[in-house]
Amino acid sequence: MAILDILVYPDPRLRRKAQPVAVIDEDIHQLVQDMAETMYHAPGIGLAATQINVAKRVVVIDCSEERNDLLVLINPVILSTSGEIETEEGCLSVPGIVAPVTRAENISFSALDGNGQENLYTADGLLAICVQHEIDHLDGKVFVDYLSRLKRVRIRKQIVKDAHDSKESDERAVAL
Ligand code: NI
Repeated sequence: MAILDILVYPDPRLRRKAQPVAVIDEDIHQLVQDMAETMYHAPGIGLAATQINVAKRVVVIDCSEERNDLLVLINPVILSTSGEIETEEGCLSVPGIVAPVTRAENISFSALDGNGQENLYTADGLLAICVQHEIDHLDGKVFVDYLSRLKRVRIRKQIVKDAHDSKESDERAVAL
C-alpha cells in the first residue's frame, strides 16, 4: 500500500481523459488499494485515478460516517439522471475551496467492482453528487469548471497563496 501524491488544480494533468480499464489484473488491484489508502489519509470521500496521475477509469468512494464502506467503481457510466440539487462541493485537488455546484439529484449508473463484476446502482444525495464529481475527473473536468471565470481566477490565486503559506485547510473533510 502507498499514499500517492494528489495533483492540485490547475495542474494540466487533471485535464487528461482517462481510458477504460480492459483487464482487472494485479496492477488494478494495487491501484485501487493505493487510491483507497490515499483517500482515507487525505481525508476525502472520493478519489478518481486522474487525481493521482493515472489515466484509467477507476474511482474510489466512501461516503459513510464510519469510513468503512469502500465503493470501488471501474469504468463507471451514468445511465440516467433526474432532478437537480445544489450543494457546496470541495475537492482534494482544489484544497481549501468549497463552492456551490448544481448536479442531478438522482442517478442510476453501472460500474465494475474490484473483482470485475458489473453492478447497477441507484443513488441520491451525497453519493449521487460524489459519483458525478468523480466521473467528471475521469473526463478531465474539475468542479470549479462550473463556476464563473472570475471565481476560478480567485480560486487559483487562493491556492497559490495557500501553497506559499503552506496553510493546512480544515475544509478537507468534505473533499471529493
Ligand atoms: Ni475532486
